[in-house]
Amino acid sequence: AAAEVRELLLARIKDIPDYPKPGVVFKDITPLLADPLAFAALTDTLAGLAARYGATKIVGLEARGFILAAPVAVQAGVGFVPVRKAGKLPGATLAQAYELEYGTAEIEVHAEDLRPGDRVMVIDDVLATGGTAEASLSLIRRAGADVAGVAVLMELSFLTGRARLVEGLAGAPLEALLTI
Ligand code: PRP
Repeated sequence: AAAEVRELLLARIKDIPDYPKPGVVFKDITPLLADPLAFAALTDTLAGLAARYGATKIVGLEARGFILAAPVAVQAGVGFVPVRKAGKLPGATLAQAYELEYGTAEIEVHAEDLRPGDRVMVIDDVLATGGTAEASLSLIRRAGADVAGVAVLMELSFLTGRARLVEGLAGAPLEALLTI
């Protein structure tokens, strides 16, 4: 993103110390969403990436990823596909479990939403350990679709998310508008 866009976005993200637990600094994007100029700058930038990637579908990762991915899909003129936490989707799904720091989690997508021939861009607010994004890339490939790229608002570079995604990306781009 352009330097002035990055500055605007960064200025609208609020650090919340010791949330959700002591020692963690939570990155709150609600001030950014509440500012129409900042939110538009964010979705414009992501829609530009979608065009550059040649994306034909946009996947958003529950829940904050939905907020960013849906307007980008509309702006890019392509379909929006929700990847949800397990148990939320009513139809036939593909499911992918992944490792958390403690324990495991599972995400799902409607199998019919991703097809061979689709070029899928994944959008989320934060890349932390990369577990969620990595699992979403597995879902896309298992559906027979291609990964066009991953874009996140923030990459927490002190965690090792980018390294965890290398295999799933298989050369596709990972773009972080802000690196923290
Ligand atoms: C957060 C964030 C990403 C994910 C990143 O979502 O929005 O989706 O964690 O973490 P990872 O790279 O370590 O997988 P969270 O599970 O808190 O869900 P929410 O968006 O529903 O609050």
